[in-house]
Amino acid sequence: MFPQEIDAMLLLRRCHSLTRLGSLGPQRCKAASPLASLAARLCSSRREDQRSSQHVNNSASWKTVVAGLLTGTGAVLAYTLHHQKVERADAGLPSEAKSSPLPVFNYDEVTKHRSLEDGIWVTYKGGVYDITEFVAMHPGGNKILLAAGGALEPFWALYAVHDQEYVLEILSQYKVGELSVEDQKKQENTKASDPYASDPERHPVLRVNCKKPFNAEPPSEILTESYITPHVFFFKRNRLPVPQVDTASYRLQVEGLSGGELSLSLEDLKTQFPKHTVTAAMQCAGNRRSDMNNIKEVQGLNWGVSAIGNAKWGGARLRDVLLAAGFGPEVAKWARHVHFEGLDKDVTGTAYGTSIPISKAISEEGDVLLAYEMNGEDLPPDHGFPLRVVVPGVVGARNVKWLGRIVISAEESASHCQQHDYKGFSPGTDWSKVDPKSAPAIQELPIQSAITVPADGAVIDRSEVTLTVKGYAWSGGGREVVRVDVSLDGGNTWQVAQLRNGDEGETAEPSPPPGRAWAWKLWELTAPLPPQAEELEIICKAVDNSYNVQPDTILPIWNLRGLLNNAWHRVKVRVRED
Ligand code: MTE
Repeated sequence: MFPQEIDAMLLLRRCHSLTRLGSLGPQRCKAASPLASLAARLCSSRREDQRSSQHVNNSASWKTVVAGLLTGTGAVLAYTLHHQKVERADAGLPSEAKSSPLPVFNYDEVTKHRSLEDGIWVTYKGGVYDITEFVAMHPGGNKILLAAGGALEPFWALYAVHDQEYVLEILSQYKVGELSVEDQKKQENTKASDPYASDPERHPVLRVNCKKPFNAEPPSEILTESYITPHVFFFKRNRLPVPQVDTASYRLQVEGLSGGELSLSLEDLKTQFPKHTVTAAMQCAGNRRSDMNNIKEVQGLNWGVSAIGNAKWGGARLRDVLLAAGFGPEVAKWARHVHFEGLDKDVTGTAYGTSIPISKAISEEGDVLLAYEMNGEDLPPDHGFPLRVVVPGVVGARNVKWLGRIVISAEESASHCQQHDYKGFSPGTDWSKVDPKSAPAIQELPIQSAITVPADGAVIDRSEVTLTVKGYAWSGGGREVVRVDVSLDGGNTWQVAQLRNGDEGETAEPSPPPGRAWAWKLWELTAPLPPQAEELEIICKAVDNSYNVQPDTILPIWNLRGLLNNAWHRVKVRVRED
């Protein structure tokens, strides 16, 4: 989960826990009163208001929310440290230890406090904090104990979610002392290295939604410049630092089959299995979330229309590897899902993971690849080097990068992204009511299209006479886009756009077999500029070969995570008179 995504949940949790603290016994009263007032202040904010009050009454939902928060240490700890940081900026951290009225501890003393019996102490920027009471309230659960008796900085460097005022404010409530100047200096010298330091260079044109971990998309005008998206412009969606994989020691483990475990090197995958190439679009479930966010606030990275790309993937078929690992009629009797695990692991060693139905994985027509190439080259680090699974027609989240392990199972993956995230809910479901078990994991995505040119807010000269509108269209599950309708007048009249499945002037890709249309189509319409109009509302909507259409507005499909936004895409442009 991501900073923005979990922010509201953290706030809820905070309201809940702080309110609870307000009613604690005498021993805790000292801490309780500032916390209670903080709780009151925080809980009175607009979006938390409804959620927190409902939430307190709904422990089941709380469990769900808490279970979903995987982000490691001290996620909720927040707010005041910021103030302290500001205050300390004048004083300078090391000297504070001398002037502070609080006792000064050395590091050896702090390290003795690593258990609930001895108390859980942590240090942060020269302060010593007794967070024993907070441990039970930590949204990331026991993961906070990983920092017990030591510094928070290395954990917070990994999870940027902590880099928020409210986390610092909460943390400050637990301050019990200062770290000795000597030990602060030692800590300075052994500064935690930035876990993102080895992340690859990225193209500066990308619009960054989150720097660490890196999440970015290209400007929409660039996205449809080419039918095959160059990897530098392909959206990047990472939850952790990009793992550094040594290809010499790399092994893909295939488990869960009666014949034991299959362990394959990259070379094995390249030489023992035929290479297949599939052109497939990949789309994040959060694509176009920003439009949903504009209607009513949702939780998640604020993606525009470019969290999608179309690439030529090359690699071994998953089906071939599963057959080599012993998949056969006996296994087919009980196997229902295939799990994938990445090599990007959080501080507890939990790998990013998801699963897909076995029927998709084993089908000859499913075209699921264990891809080692993207657009004819080795997979780039951001896109899963050395190996990723490409599940055509299925939501991006199941296309696990830096693939380390495959498991055949009777059950879906128990991972967070399978069980608690990437699910669709009713517009009427809020955080107090949401029950992830009530909704299936998103697999195939619905019909989608968006306008990439002109950009929203663009100004067009009347002298242009004609207007060219461009965009992309794609449908999940191998369903082929058969038509894109474009309106230049807010939906009163419509014209059919021209579709293409290749670059202009180049040979188009052959038509896909039925049910295997994995690639997107680019479309274009050039039409006379409507006379007199000062502003145009341009709309696009696509139709696939099952005659699925896009909903006209967002409100009926709005959901609290801002997923699956496939409403008609609208941009407004102004016409400037000469
Ligand atoms: N695989 C791993 N191991 N770790 C990740 O963070 N992100 C997933 C998926 N596979 C992710 C992953 C998500 S949510 C998406 S949308 C796609 O990768 C994005 O793929 P891309 O970064 O190559 O565009």
